Amino acid sequence: MRNPRAFFQPLAIGAPEPLREIPFKPSRMIHFFDPSNEKMASKLPELARKCDILLGNLEDAIPADRKEAAREGLIRLAKEVDFGDCALWTRINSLDSPWVLDDLLRLVGEIGDRLEVIMVPKVEGPWDIHYVDRLLAQLEAKHGLERPILVHAILETSLGVVNVEEIATASPRMQGMSFGPADLAASRRMKTTRVGGGHPAYRVIEDPDPENPDAPRATAQQDPWHYSIARMVDACTSAGILPFYGPYGDIRDTVGCEHQFRAAFLLGCVGAWSLHPVQIDIAKKVFSPPVDEVKFAKKVLEAIPDGRGVHMIDGKMQDDATWKQCKVMVSLAEMLAR
Ligand code: GLV
Ligand code: MG
Repeated sequence: MRNPRAFFQPLAIGAPEPLREIPFKPSRMIHFFDPSNEKMASKLPELARKCDILLGNLEDAIPADRKEAAREGLIRLAKEVDFGDCALWTRINSLDSPWVLDDLLRLVGEIGDRLEVIMVPKVEGPWDIHYVDRLLAQLEAKHGLERPILVHAILETSLGVVNVEEIATASPRMQGMSFGPADLAASRRMKTTRVGGGHPAYRVIEDPDPENPDAPRATAQQDPWHYSIARMVDACTSAGILPFYGPYGDIRDTVGCEHQFRAAFLLGCVGAWSLHPVQIDIAKKVFSPPVDEVKFAKKVLEAIPDGRGVHMIDGKMQDDATWKQCKVMVSLAEMLAR
């Protein structure tokens, strides 16, 4: 596996230098909007004040007869709306669709200086990233762009999961990856009809009582996404890029959404998608480290200034490894507070 920050694809002449490090930016929620929807577009200035990232969606959920309107709408909005500190991203159509080439040609040509990240759906292997990377380098050179546009892959097919490490290191443009449970479920032929979250039928059952084998046995719901999210987190963090949880489709189930986001946060994800304004605040809360945990972590860092040895703090054993965990928590809190 190559270190993406030390790996340089040959550049198109005149293309901007690849990044050596992903600069920190708050990215707790990637809020999706449909750029062909006038009503939604009118809310963008207000959303830009609340969100870390706004993403103009061109792919799934945008019907074929609105693909062009969405693309042109995004170009217009990127030019007209003041996004302030909020980053503007887009999700282009998939690489096997008839729309993607025009998505890239039009968007980079018209608003390449305003788009920070391009999200590529249904990425199956490093070859998909190499294709986008090369095309972006050519378009950036052609349009005289000074900053490279970053690439974010959606992990949402079985083959993508199999190749996740190679995808994460495929280009120095890789900014991160999102977990896409809806397409992944379809690709794996899971027997579900939902977007993320658990499933009432996916459970473990306790052993039968030998004294009373016919007695009812307790069951507990399991997390069907644990393995793939953990795999994605390892692939991303080892490559120096950022892992995100994707969509939670039951908008009314704010409790379920919060649980799904929190599980992802605990496993190492830095943010999640928000498909409705109610999910913005959930993501902001969940992906900012809890105040009491940060307080405890600071106490540990202060008590062990050199991060070495074994110490008892509030009755809990702390050593070099817990010191590092505390450092992760405190630095995230400090970066978000800036
Ligand atoms: C997201 O695109 C998903 O398929 O879950
Ligand atoms: Mg999808």
